[in-house]
Amino acid sequence: MNLFNVYPLFNINPVKAEGSFLWDENSKKYLDFYGGHAVISIGHNHPYYQTKLKEQLEKISFYSNSVQNHLQTELAEKLGEISGYEDYSLFLCNSGAEATENALKLASFHNGKKKVVYFSGSFHGRTSAAVSVTDNPKIVAPVNFSERFIKCEWNNINQLNQIFQDHKNEISAVIIEGIQGVGGIILPSEELIFSLKKLCAENEVILIMDEVQSGYGRTGNFFAHQEFDIQPDLITIAKGMGNGFPIGGILISPKFKASNGLLGTTFGGNHLACAAGIAVLDVIKNENLIDNAEKIGSYIENKIKGFPNIKEIRRRGLMIGIELDEPCAEIRKKILNEHHVFTGNSSNPNVLRLLPALNITEKEADLFINALESVLQNH
Ligand SMILES: Cc1ncc(COP(=O)(O)O)c(C=O)c1O
Repeated sequence: MNLFNVYPLFNINPVKAEGSFLWDENSKKYLDFYGGHAVISIGHNHPYYQTKLKEQLEKISFYSNSVQNHLQTELAEKLGEISGYEDYSLFLCNSGAEATENALKLASFHNGKKKVVYFSGSFHGRTSAAVSVTDNPKIVAPVNFSERFIKCEWNNINQLNQIFQDHKNEISAVIIEGIQGVGGIILPSEELIFSLKKLCAENEVILIMDEVQSGYGRTGNFFAHQEFDIQPDLITIAKGMGNGFPIGGILISPKFKASNGLLGTTFGGNHLACAAGIAVLDVIKNENLIDNAEKIGSYIENKIKGFPNIKEIRRRGLMIGIELDEPCAEIRKKILNEHHVFTGNSSNPNVLRLLPALNITEKEADLFINALESVLQNH
């Protein structure tokens, strides 16, 4: 059987990883400045993470959500403490798309309304409702299309007000990323966030903050939206949450009431996933990785500021977008093939997206900085 061929692949087969490095089958070493799409939060194969997962594997790796699982409770308590959302509750699932899907459902269950507002440039996942609120016609199949999903231009407050006026009493939720990731590291304006806060509160609309990519300490706050004085009703999480182990979730404000069977999943919150999630939170806390994200992020920004061809650097912590004055595909290829550094792209062809592990060091960052400088100068 062949694989269903949907991914354009680099011709690299990593067989080993440690910290911010990967090795291929020929022992060639690569620096990981992308964390496999923002997933590697505490570094590859962190020893504490490995120990926790191995210990759990030897005890019990799975039982269904029909029994007590104290690991889920421990994860929720630790997440509440580190995020400051102690009074919220946690629903566990397996991925970012599932988190989006369940958040949209929960909002609609709560207020009985059907329409959802999303933003241009957004990415919230590839499943049914999640892809309907994702701004990429190429991945929205006819079955996913519905006029219930209303697109608003990013940072366009007038249009947002108009949408709220036109669809009064029909809007269930607004969904927005803490910082747009796939869209090219696009930060929301303070005005947008406060308009959303006000409009949602006044119209009984649920505000869903997608922190799947921008959360978990990446931006120098636990969540990107914590730069502002706002508490969304629902916050979705995944990616960095398990450092590679599939896990996602929703932080749910106290105004939502749970009932048996309202949401559910077979694998969500299984023992191994929780062990991974707990290990990640322990390491983020014990190693002060949220502070490190801002420290190294600002170090990188200062070093690359004057490099040629850079039009703009958009950044919070270690969520970094470098917008060049030309498409970055060739530059990215050279950084990988000639300097052995993984970086990411985005839906804006000119933007290089950087999402390294939160425990990356200055010395490791220098390897990327030198590679970028050399490629831009000799380009
Ligand atoms: C902001 C955001 N939300 C949701 C998702 C979907 O997550 P997953 O690929 O785990 O379904 C992604 C994935 O890139 C994302 O960046």
